[in-house]
Amino acid sequence: MKDSIKILAVETSCDETAAAVSENGLNILSSVVASQVDWHQKYGGVVPEIASRKHMEFINPVIDEALKEAEVTLEEIDAVAATYGPGLVGSLLVGLSYAKAMALALNKPFIGVNHIAGHIYANFISKKDIETPVICLTVSGGHTDLLYFKEYGEYEILGRTQDDAAGEAFDKIARYLGLGYPGGPLIEKRAQNGKEDAVDFPRPFLDKDNYDFSFSGLKTAVINYIHNQKQKGNDLNINDIAASFQKAVIDILTAKTLKAALNKKVNSVILSGGVAANERFREVLKERLAREEIPLYYPDLKLCTDNAAMISTVAYYQYKKGDFADLDLNADPNLQL
Ligand code: KG4
Ligand code: ZN
Repeated sequence: MKDSIKILAVETSCDETAAAVSENGLNILSSVVASQVDWHQKYGGVVPEIASRKHMEFINPVIDEALKEAEVTLEEIDAVAATYGPGLVGSLLVGLSYAKAMALALNKPFIGVNHIAGHIYANFISKKDIETPVICLTVSGGHTDLLYFKEYGEYEILGRTQDDAAGEAFDKIARYLGLGYPGGPLIEKRAQNGKEDAVDFPRPFLDKDNYDFSFSGLKTAVINYIHNQKQKGNDLNINDIAASFQKAVIDILTAKTLKAALNKKVNSVILSGGVAANERFREVLKERLAREEIPLYYPDLKLCTDNAAMISTVAYYQYKKGDFADLDLNADPNLQL
């Protein structure tokens, strides 16, 4: 194999149009993300039809920019990669079709990447020497997955959400409170000035002897609470509700992650996905794990949310194994790890 393998990756699974070029996996030469948040904000969530249209508009300039920033030409690229799931099918298809067409036109190998694997590998871009095995908690708008990661390419799913994802719960509660979208950062901000123990919301699945999660019961409890307060004519203390809700989510995520780390006797815990950007969560989990002398790592903020750098890194490890995809690879909105 050559000593420098450069991979161009495209990521369009949700509402960010992203492209990146990596060299030998972890060295990111460029990472460009065009956010569509302004177009979805007024609807309080991602509108799939708008997302697909915006991806079509942005994909060309985003790829051009990624190549320019990386200072590489199309001829110097060794393979083209794209996320093929999980995600919104219409969104996935834009990046996937574009990348397959590029691979065909350039006569280069094509690599199909799982978006969740990308979120996990984002950790290794931020910190290159994380000691494995690790427990990885992926918490985003679409996922709450707890998995055991032995080494590159070898993982075992321990548990996942049975209903809503953690980020989805943040987004729905924020919408209900009239805070806006995306909900996570807005709830976190309000929670900073609220009391975590103001309202005793339930912690579903906390005592269950498994690694699965459930957030829809918590979401309903918060909505019922808001409704009851309004009916009684009480003023809503949004800061307190935000802080108490956030605390319930953090308690559930922390307890399950800690249990997995201890049972699997891992050397580190890593976080991925948008909810990993929550500073209060990082602080609580870090402190709890420190008592067991287990270090916690999380990616830099820009690698926590959707990006193509993490996709190009996974693609490199697939490249090394010769794990290429045919050009008839289809988008899989429910792709599992
Ligand atoms: O990974 P991501 O960018 O997109 C996918 O869903 O794949 O995650 C976005 C999710 C949204 O639900 C957003 O509300 C949540 O991550 N999020 C947060 C924070 N920042 C983003 N949730 C809690 N606290 C935050 N600071
Ligand atoms: Zn994501």
